[in-house]
Amino acid sequence: MSEQGNRLRAYISGTGSAVPERVLTNSELERIVDTSDEWIMERSGIKTRYIGGSEMATSDLCVKAAARALESARVAPEDVDMLIVGTVTPDQPLPSTGCIIQERMGLKNAFAFDIAAACTAFIYGITIADSFIRTGMCRKILVIGAEMLSRITNWEDRTTCVLFGDGAGAALLEPCEGPRGIVSTFLRSDGSLQDYLYIPAGGSRRPHNAETLRKHMHAIRMSGNSVFKHAVRAMGDAAQRVLDDAGIASSDLDLFIPHQANLRIIKATAARIKVPMDKVYVNLDRYGNTSAASVPIALDEASRTGRLKEGNLVEMVAFGGGFTWGAVLVRW
Ligand SMILES: CC(C)(COP(=O)(O)OP(=O)(O)OC[C@H]1O[C@@H](n2cnc3c(N)ncnc32)[C@H](O)[C@@H]1OP(=O)(O)O)[C@@H](O)C(=O)NCCC(=O)NCCS
Repeated sequence: MSEQGNRLRAYISGTGSAVPERVLTNSELERIVDTSDEWIMERSGIKTRYIGGSEMATSDLCVKAAARALESARVAPEDVDMLIVGTVTPDQPLPSTGCIIQERMGLKNAFAFDIAAACTAFIYGITIADSFIRTGMCRKILVIGAEMLSRITNWEDRTTCVLFGDGAGAALLEPCEGPRGIVSTFLRSDGSLQDYLYIPAGGSRRPHNAETLRKHMHAIRMSGNSVFKHAVRAMGDAAQRVLDDAGIASSDLDLFIPHQANLRIIKATAARIKVPMDKVYVNLDRYGNTSAASVPIALDEASRTGRLKEGNLVEMVAFGGGFTWGAVLVRW
């Protein structure tokens, strides 16, 4: 999926993000499970993460992030014609979190839906939005990546609970014909590797009951080492693929925004496509792994702090449960 031969494409006209107020530090985690600030920092690079209170739902964060994206794009809610929400922590099974957000934000001329692609959902969402804009079917599309992973975390499992955080990031996409916009995209999944990262219960195969809850089967289970190896290879390959499709060298990139799961994964992925760390955006020390929200939160920060300037080439890449992975190359 590359720009070749197609003049009309989508560009990102606005971004926004939101996190809960409550910060959970590594020292606090030391009091919950057998871990240490030193271990978490050394193995993951994470120092703090944001955790929502019991009154909060994923859509609360989405509404804030999306309102900021619309404000920065100067677009009114009624002008949005499509809303895509990437999340594995919807407010409830029915209706979609997209429909809940649509109602709360007054997106009355849009159609809304959720996608489940774990940490890659924002990349999937941007790619779907880009294709709807290229065909002329939609003109203003909101894409949100949001999670309250704290709700599906086993707080007794030190191998996972130190890694995750809550948050939301959003982007508005509109058509353009100039040099700006989405240059190339790549998506992939491999369902044969689903057992490395999954939630055992809570769906039609195994609905919740007292036993599933007692055994923490509503929470994420992960084989960290296996996920680590696949993530580095898949993100490196996807990142290289979109560059090759566009005929662009990695040395031409101004900014590289990888999924924020682990600093060692980020460094290894950047090394694979030969991007120096001063061009790599890193904020997982403050947010932890926010899954679908991690790339759009980083994108919003990079844009608002001036790290990303008009004309820059930015590449986003992610990897998550499924496994799913993908990359997007954008002329900002
Ligand atoms: C989870 C992760 C940080 C673990 O790092 P690692 O270097 O692979 O560590 P290991 O799993 O090999 O564990 C090493 C030791 O630390 C221990 N350990 C695990 N979690 C710990 C914690 N929070 N505190 C202290 N010790 C811990 C393990 O029990 C193990 O002990 P052992 O050697 O006595 O058996 C790392 O594998 C990772 O980030 N994986 C990818 C995660 C990810 O990206 N997930 C989302 C994908 S989108």
